Amino acid sequence: MLRVAIDGPGGTGKSTIAKAVASRFGLEYIDTGAMYRALGLKALRNGVPAEDENAVKAMLDETVIDFAGGKTMLDGEDVSGLIRTNEISMAASNISKLAIVRAKVDEVSRFLASTKDVVMEGRDIGSTVIPDAEVKIFMTAAPEVRAKRRYDQLREAGKEADYDKIFNEIQQRDYQDSHREVSPLRQAEDAVYLDTSDMTIEENIDAVADIITEKTGRAV
Ligand code: DC
Repeated sequence: MLRVAIDGPGGTGKSTIAKAVASRFGLEYIDTGAMYRALGLKALRNGVPAEDENAVKAMLDETVIDFAGGKTMLDGEDVSGLIRTNEISMAASNISKLAIVRAKVDEVSRFLASTKDVVMEGRDIGSTVIPDAEVKIFMTAAPEVRAKRRYDQLREAGKEADYDKIFNEIQQRDYQDSHREVSPLRQAEDAVYLDTSDMTIEENIDAVADIITEKTGRAV
């Protein structure tokens, strides 16, 4: 069994790296943030405020989230593209504060990790979701670098991007994700700390692959 947990703040490039590493090692890639994003999207669409726990609970009871062929499915609808906006980033961060929401996402995540070898990415995978993961990495980068990466990513996708707005949003989300009561963003004691501020994507992928090889003896 091989479970690689990659945690860290938003905009670190975790998704890009985790995906590449998963394909290199032949592992399944699971993006737990996508589940919070899908729930944030549904809450926004249905006018359910994150503060109203009863309403959120009712929403959760009639929500099915699934990953089919690398797509994020919300009640049977492919929302993979729709959830990649700044608005949904904040909605996801807001709704992820609630213990009932976390319990639902944790349940799906643990089930997925029990059926196959995975690279699972999020905020609390090594600390809470799979505390006995074979490899744990805490990946981060300076907020300025993360804002610039997100900016470039949006521009490359042909979307509007405002650097200052992105920078502020990253700082706000960092604060919110690290200060919530339930399962905040934090480095697991036994996680390898990786600052990627000065790394290219290739160097970052190699660094993560080296950690996996070092911890498990598995090489590619
Ligand atoms: O990784 P991301 O930017 O797609 O995550 C969106 C939000 O979801 C993030 O701001 C906080 C929340 N999240 C979380 O609380 N725990 C996780 N394991 C993954 C994401």
